[in-house]
Amino acid sequence: MNKKAIITSALPYANGEIHLGHVASTYLPADVTTRFLKLNGVEAYYVCASDDFGTPILIQSEKEGKTPAEYVAHWNKRDYEDFTAFDIDFDYFYKTSSEENIKFVQDVFLKLNKAGHIYEREIIQFYCHDCKKFLPDRYVKGSCPHCDAEDQYSDLCEVCGRIPEEIINPKCSICGQDPTKEKTSHYFFKLKNFGDALYQWLEENEHLQKDVKKYVQNWIKSGLIDWDITRDITWGVPIPLDDSKDQVFYGWFDNHLAYISTALKFLNDKGIDGKEFWNSADIYHFIGKDIVYHHYLFLPAMRLGIESEYKLPDYIPTRGHLTLQSKKISKSRNWYIGLKEFLEYYPADYLRFYLVSINPYSQDDLNFDWDDFTTRINSELIGNLGNFVNRALGFTKKAFEGKVPESETFDEKDTEVEEKIKNLSSEVGSLMEQNHLDRALKKIMEFSSFFNQYFQHKEPWKKGPGTANCVYLSVNAARSLSIAISPFIPKSAQKIWQQLGLEGDVISCSWNDISKLAIPSGHSLGDPSPLFAKVEESDIEKYKKQLGPSE
Ligand code: 2FM
Ligand code: ZN
Repeated sequence: MNKKAIITSALPYANGEIHLGHVASTYLPADVTTRFLKLNGVEAYYVCASDDFGTPILIQSEKEGKTPAEYVAHWNKRDYEDFTAFDIDFDYFYKTSSEENIKFVQDVFLKLNKAGHIYEREIIQFYCHDCKKFLPDRYVKGSCPHCDAEDQYSDLCEVCGRIPEEIINPKCSICGQDPTKEKTSHYFFKLKNFGDALYQWLEENEHLQKDVKKYVQNWIKSGLIDWDITRDITWGVPIPLDDSKDQVFYGWFDNHLAYISTALKFLNDKGIDGKEFWNSADIYHFIGKDIVYHHYLFLPAMRLGIESEYKLPDYIPTRGHLTLQSKKISKSRNWYIGLKEFLEYYPADYLRFYLVSINPYSQDDLNFDWDDFTTRINSELIGNLGNFVNRALGFTKKAFEGKVPESETFDEKDTEVEEKIKNLSSEVGSLMEQNHLDRALKKIMEFSSFFNQYFQHKEPWKKGPGTANCVYLSVNAARSLSIAISPFIPKSAQKIWQQLGLEGDVISCSWNDISKLAIPSGHSLGDPSPLFAKVEESDIEKYKKQLGPSE
């Protein structure tokens, strides 16, 4: 395992609240992975930033009578607060509108230009005479020329995932009028130059998901198109060649560069050589499947275009979208659950546990379902994990005044149990390293269930032979569980740690500690108490109406 890592997740637009869909596909998997890497002694940094530029943000700020800078400052703060409440533990959260990013983006542009990867071309752009605006990207809707899906944005077809060259039957998405076509001069990035290099990079990188790789390679085979990187608006990174025009860079030209500029700012401020670190670390970009095109083509091509001065990603964990009660999330149709609101009802760990359990390492969509949430929390988190820990610790408290008894010679079952403890770190660890967070969590839950059965089988309450070993091994298993589960449900893991009467924080452990029987006989436990409260079905019915989607 590389001992250095930089982890990023798709930057949230500073344009509205974070909802369950956002955290499920990117922020939570990235956070769990970072916590895991840190436990493995990796110098891992999770950096993120608000994605501040672009037409939608400009228009929305105008609607609210704010300057775009005020508007994005509001959402930057709010997003960060919501992430923090969900225990998404960024090492650094910055913004794409930072002066560091603006400078970095302009430098990259100048280097690309010097290397011959940029050209200027007159284009015809949609213009809405009612709104008196050029209509880039999301401001034009129509049918996708590739798959015929209707009502798609001109910069991305959400059905086939491709970027339409020219949308069919265009309409202004603000006022619905037919736009006219006007001339304007734009800069283009020669994405076409990079087809072969991108193909080879995809071929050689063994960490990328095979299925994603395959369809991106098919896109390359069917021909890449050069990329218009200019927008006729005033809110964005100014183009360093020409400051007279009301034009800026397209948000997708600047935003992914903030992965690098934010990491550099953070590392350099810490006194670490940021560039050196970036180039010797494993680079992870966690994304949802809607931005595959941007991360597997634009982003690496731009890095290749500046001579790989900053290395290309090693991992781009790409996951599907969250649906809500089996329907696509839509803010405009109020079919979504805000993260902040959800956390007013249930602890972060409930949601973290649930969203990881239902989230495979694939592009399959995952579904938030209130009834499934109730079942999984009540029967797995509480009925299995919570029950085992409470049972083992509660019994030790009652029967041995909280002192771990002297262990005796192990019988066959005890030896099997000891092996389980010793193997847990590698069994879970290898799944985590392969990004199978859901399977890793399942393995931990199987371990807990195994110990529930062991406890039941040994019947320590009868105080027969083997009681001391059962308690000794169960208490140690609870300790192993606390460490193993900490990347997933950090607050509850720390509670277990405290109830075990252990010093410090569980996160200061190392992953290998999971396999040690480190609680000795004679150790005094803390005070056991239930870790979780049941999810009541009557509440769920209420929340379904209240929080949940209403149509
Ligand atoms: O799709 C989005 O929500 C974008 N804000 C993601 C940006 S990720 C980038 F910076 F690479
Ligand atoms: Zn219009």
